[in-house]
Amino acid sequence: MASVTSLTSAVHQRLASALSAALPETADADPLLRRSDRADFQANGILALAKKAKANPRELATQVVGQVVTGDVIGNVEVSGPGFLNITVTDKAITENLAARAADAEGRLGVPYTEQPGTTVIDYAQPNVAKEMHVGHLRSAVIGDSVVKLLEFTGETVIRRHHIGDWGTQFGMLIQYLDEHPHELDHKAAEVTGEEAMSNLDRLYKAARKLFDSDEEFKTRARRRVVDLQAGDPHTLAMWQKFVDESKIYFFSVFEKLDMEIRDPDIVGESGYNDMLAETCRLLEESGVAVRSEGALCVFFDDIKGPDGKPVPLIVQKSDGGYGYAATDLSAIRDRVFNLKANSIIYVVDARQSLHFKMVFETARRAGWLNDDVKAYQLAFGTVLGKDGKPFKTREGETVRLVDLLDEAIDRASAVVREKAQDLSAAEIAERGAQVGIGAVKYADLSTSANRDYKFDLDQMVSLNGDTSVYLQYAYARIQSILRKAGDVRPSAHPELALTDAERALGLHADAFAETVAEAAAEYAPHKMAAYLYQLASLYTSFYDKCPVLKAQTPEQVENRLFLCDVTARTLHQGMALLGIRTPERL
Ligand code: ARG
Repeated sequence: MASVTSLTSAVHQRLASALSAALPETADADPLLRRSDRADFQANGILALAKKAKANPRELATQVVGQVVTGDVIGNVEVSGPGFLNITVTDKAITENLAARAADAEGRLGVPYTEQPGTTVIDYAQPNVAKEMHVGHLRSAVIGDSVVKLLEFTGETVIRRHHIGDWGTQFGMLIQYLDEHPHELDHKAAEVTGEEAMSNLDRLYKAARKLFDSDEEFKTRARRRVVDLQAGDPHTLAMWQKFVDESKIYFFSVFEKLDMEIRDPDIVGESGYNDMLAETCRLLEESGVAVRSEGALCVFFDDIKGPDGKPVPLIVQKSDGGYGYAATDLSAIRDRVFNLKANSIIYVVDARQSLHFKMVFETARRAGWLNDDVKAYQLAFGTVLGKDGKPFKTREGETVRLVDLLDEAIDRASAVVREKAQDLSAAEIAERGAQVGIGAVKYADLSTSANRDYKFDLDQMVSLNGDTSVYLQYAYARIQSILRKAGDVRPSAHPELALTDAERALGLHADAFAETVAEAAAEYAPHKMAAYLYQLASLYTSFYDKCPVLKAQTPEQVENRLFLCDVTARTLHQGMALLGIRTPERL
């Protein structure tokens, strides 16, 4: 195993053993270590421990200092204030640790795998068949993709599920219409682009809707079609399949634009659970978890009531026998728990569906499908707002098409790249423009914590200054340009060299990558990775301003600084990859 113990945990271990030597009766005392501006680290845990042991905190702190092993990792430790410890690590330890990370043969920068990996099913990127994708679908896809990457990087087995909306009443209408107007979806499949596929569907949907609203007889035929569909009538199913296939052409084109890999076998939509629905209802009814109420099969909750004070049930089966969204989600839980053997199930879904998931999870818990060993969690995300702070709409008040937004982001980014580009060809500008534009959109989404709303502001997103992906991509490209200029001089670590403050700050932060991965993965929180990377790029910028690299004083210092540049670049590259964002070599 090439995993590297971070300096934070090395210091933590040394302090913890010093603490137990000074206070033998206290087991597992936490020194409460954190990064600090005064020294490298500060430990604040002694105050509380002294209070417990009825000891004088400064005296206890002094005793602990006497027990700390110094010289290798810890350079200096002293008591400060009422009983804090200020700890400085050695320059040598910083450089050696980074050298060990750079030497990791697996290219993981010494990041360890989690000790007990499990299986996580993640439900994300779930657009609806025969409908345009909008900004809400962007969030689920972008956040989900990053969580997949973070978890896989820690060694977790991840099963992706794209729970697309491909079942339900509107399909009766669409199928009936297409059956009566058989040539409306005809085309040579191989040549159809995503955009075309969508405009075909859109046209058909509008026409079908118009007829449905104006023609009672068509309405009746359409309703009968839903029943045929759910009963598995082969002809109806074949028609339905056309809609699904057409929509998938469109989805794949959007996901490709998003630079995101979505695999066909992972698309298991609502329809995929059709065969389980009746059994799910039977199990719930037999166990008494669900009860009949006015003909419908319902689950009730003490704490969930409507505005009139009456309990709001989760309806598993409607009084007409039809199954809805809840029956499908409950069946999907059974599949994920019993067939896919998930330990965790994550749902990356809009916060506006939180009540639904609260009820579904509680129902599954009562049924015994979820428990302390198998957990479900909604990674709920907030709303995308326009610049005016209101939910994002077009000037005409319509939902904004996701593809239009992405195209605009790419246009803006290409303009930024073109302006800065010195030696890029037109083709390169187009490629970088896409990488920068899509990166900007993803980063803006990922850098705020998921549950918060955020403003979709393209000007801000592609700005070179501030907390943007472009800033990070430029930091990366700038490092690559220095490494190219270095020519034959190779980056190489010289642990014997003293470091400047800017080098230490950069080095310590680069060393903390592994902890950030662990935290962001455990908390399903890509924004923690984004914040870490922004800090890394900022520390690099100050290092670069203060420390000449190729013109450093000695050849060893040139090599060591190139080494710091290289480790920073690799960390940026890996971290951005975990967010699903490219780092072009030149910008
Ligand atoms: N298709 C749904 C929508 O567009 C999201 C599906 C979420 N996943 C689930 N298992 N219900 O809102």
